[in-house]
Amino acid sequence: MFKKDFPYFQNSEVVYLDNAATTQKPKSVIDSQLEYYEKYCANTHRSSFGHANKATTNFEESRKILQNFINASKKEEIIFTKGVTESINFIAQAYAKDFKTVIISSLEHHSNITPWHTQGRNLQKGLKVVKYKDNLDFDFEDYENILKNNPNSFVSISHISNTFGKIHDIKRIISLAHEYDCVVMIDGAQSLAHEKIDVQDLDVDFFAISGHKTFAPTGVGAIYIKEKFLDKLDLYQTGGATIDQVDFNSSTFLPSPFKFEAGTQNIAGIIGFGEALKYLKHVGYENIKAIEKDVFNYLNEELKAIPDIIFYNDTSDSIGSRSFNIQGIMHDDIGILLDKMNVAIRVGHHCTQPIMKSLGIKGTIRVSISFYNNYEDVNIFIKSLKKAISMLK
Ligand SMILES: Cc1ncc(COP(=O)(O)O)c(C=O)c1O
Repeated sequence: MFKKDFPYFQNSEVVYLDNAATTQKPKSVIDSQLEYYEKYCANTHRSSFGHANKATTNFEESRKILQNFINASKKEEIIFTKGVTESINFIAQAYAKDFKTVIISSLEHHSNITPWHTQGRNLQKGLKVVKYKDNLDFDFEDYENILKNNPNSFVSISHISNTFGKIHDIKRIISLAHEYDCVVMIDGAQSLAHEKIDVQDLDVDFFAISGHKTFAPTGVGAIYIKEKFLDKLDLYQTGGATIDQVDFNSSTFLPSPFKFEAGTQNIAGIIGFGEALKYLKHVGYENIKAIEKDVFNYLNEELKAIPDIIFYNDTSDSIGSRSFNIQGIMHDDIGILLDKMNVAIRVGHHCTQPIMKSLGIKGTIRVSISFYNNYEDVNIFIKSLKKAISMLK
């Protein structure tokens, strides 16, 4: 029903089921890129001629749109970044590095693991990993024990697993962390494409957002920073656009958000991000949730009927991604054959090697849906998967 809004689907025969990696872009987002580059390309926050003003206005409009979209109380709380990877690295370096302990979950993406390693943390020193239960459920008992033994820590946990689609109960994770005087960052890379986020209701301290997984251009994202932390952050990168006064001895910096957005930003991308959020609002989370639930359930029922399929979780508390293997077949081989049949899925470790290792596998076959996917996509995928299996067995 919504595919008509996405030029990719008019131009391509591919059945696109790799939405956890990146989403397709609606026409309004693509048009906004062309419009910026063809009609008013100029830098922002510097020059004062007409096109520069227009670029600045549209760029700042995106900040307001995102602020309203996630119900942040002030636009100063929204800092644009390249994506979730940069958002997490930013907060790790500018704020969390001095914490004795950082707490993450077992299902984290590498982007929420490696920034902690670069600070010299590991399981013996300064890094705690919350266990998972049978169904890959977040182990709240283990979490609370870790919190009890490590108050005043920094908690950094993903909302939705890109590999298994598992939704963490982040409201409970955040409120428990606060009970033990911890500060919390949520990796929301997979969130906005599927779920309404209200940062004030969540009472989250930092919320990392990926634009390209939310129908916006690549190379754009954001970090929400609760106002009370804005003055507690070290500078992350400095240079043009961050400064108030500079001489050869010292510099003074502008207030947030500018002091955290050094250099020329991805202007077109950020303007496109605003357009993507406008489009999402137009579609509405009620529609998105209803469609995704229906298609996800259908996908799951069809998968369950495939002989020798191995799942690692059931679909309770899950959305978007479904990971599995077929007994006796390498996931990579399925990926190669499905590509030949014009079906785009991802095979491998999905940037979550630690959970793969603890499950004793090298990777999975992952199908990840968005609201533009439909039963027909699932039918083609299942037919192609069955064909690939019969070729490989
Ligand atoms: C859960 C999760 N965290 C972080 C990232 C990295 O996000 P980005 O591509 O915006 O840097 C991803 C991307 O796959 C992800 O799925």
